[in-house]
Amino acid sequence: MNQKVHTRHRKQLMRMIGDGGIAILPAAPVRTRNRDVEYPYRQDSDFYYLSGFPEPEAVIVLVPGRKNGEYILFCRDKDPEQEVWHGRRYGPDAAMEIFAADDAFPISDIDDILPGLMEHCERVYYTMGLDPQFDKNVMDWVNTLRKTARAGTHVPYEFVSLDYLLHDMRLFKHRDEIRLMKKAAKISVQAHKRAMQICKPGMYEYQLDAEILHEFQRHGATWAYPSIVGSGANACILHYTDNNDVLKDGDLVLIDAGAEFEGYDADITRAFPVNGVYSDAQREITELVVEANVEAIKQVKPGNHWNDPHNAAVKVLTKGLVDLGLLKGKVPKLIKDQAYRKYYMHRTGHWLGMDVHDVGDYKLDDQWRLLEPGMVLTIEPGLYIPHGSRGAKRWWDIGVRIEDDVVVTKEGCDVLTEDLPKWPKDIEALMAK
Ligand code: GLY
Ligand code: MN
Ligand code: MN
Repeated sequence: MNQKVHTRHRKQLMRMIGDGGIAILPAAPVRTRNRDVEYPYRQDSDFYYLSGFPEPEAVIVLVPGRKNGEYILFCRDKDPEQEVWHGRRYGPDAAMEIFAADDAFPISDIDDILPGLMEHCERVYYTMGLDPQFDKNVMDWVNTLRKTARAGTHVPYEFVSLDYLLHDMRLFKHRDEIRLMKKAAKISVQAHKRAMQICKPGMYEYQLDAEILHEFQRHGATWAYPSIVGSGANACILHYTDNNDVLKDGDLVLIDAGAEFEGYDADITRAFPVNGVYSDAQREITELVVEANVEAIKQVKPGNHWNDPHNAAVKVLTKGLVDLGLLKGKVPKLIKDQAYRKYYMHRTGHWLGMDVHDVGDYKLDDQWRLLEPGMVLTIEPGLYIPHGSRGAKRWWDIGVRIEDDVVVTKEGCDVLTEDLPKWPKDIEALMAK
């Protein structure tokens, strides 16, 4: 992303912190997978949001109003020998030139420099409890100052959680961020289409997973979360990721997969027939879930509550379950008793952004939050009919979720994933091509 965007994020945060505050934010640590092998590195979302800096062993320090520069970046120093083995490092000079830091220092010097940066501050903005080692570092820096307090050193006296401010900022996506989310959605739509078109009975779930990943990677993206490819009864396991069963003729396969592009995520689910044609039972359930998805999306507009789309989906699903004979009773009472939870046990969506379950409060002062332009959320109703459900044999082992990504606009909403078919007849037409 353009450096200007990160600069804008820092300035906005510093306006909220104000003079007398200091914000401290460490990069994500490298994690070991096994012995000398590490997990692919993923920068911390907050850290990336404020800096665009992709390396581990780095710390952002923001000191609003500091005369010698407000944005200080500690990072790994250049090291030709290490770089031959492990890849290039930017180093402090590039941190200033490319990443617009006002000052940059080697991370190895942080213990000497950071207490001095804190010295004139009253409030430390730092999110505790995520990394015990870094929590201890922060305490050590404060204690270094305390030790010299008798010599007149000023010690900050207030600790404030940084994520409270930062996460509310991240909830509202700027035009540049929406552009990246559109790209992540577009790549994900192509990946789902590819899986639908290549799918044949006898293939394995992991082969569809591989097709999805192929499409992500050939566009310079990666996965936002491990793909769920669940066929038959596996579709009823909400977070199924084994992806190792054979795709059987006559089964549905549910794919929940989304790309991450330049730090921004998509999150899409569809369920389609392995052989390209829905059975009547599969069609009934799928059409009902799509109808719930469509009605829920209609509720995404400024001024509506966070819960309005969920309520709309629950209403459609409950009525449909009664019509099909899967629930018995009066719709309002069944809704009140949450009878639908037998077949629909999750909520209708979540915020979406740099994290697939993105940051941001869902309630303010114990009230569901109002939707506002720039918020991005998923709409993902589903129905899962477990094997053995009484009076429902016709639908046993059918699991369907229809998940789209939606941005709230001034007028209503924009569905970022609308190019992916969701009605059975449209999916059949695509699979027949
Ligand atoms: N892919 C995770 C979710 O849909 O929430
Ligand atoms: Mn989701
Ligand atoms: Mn999903």
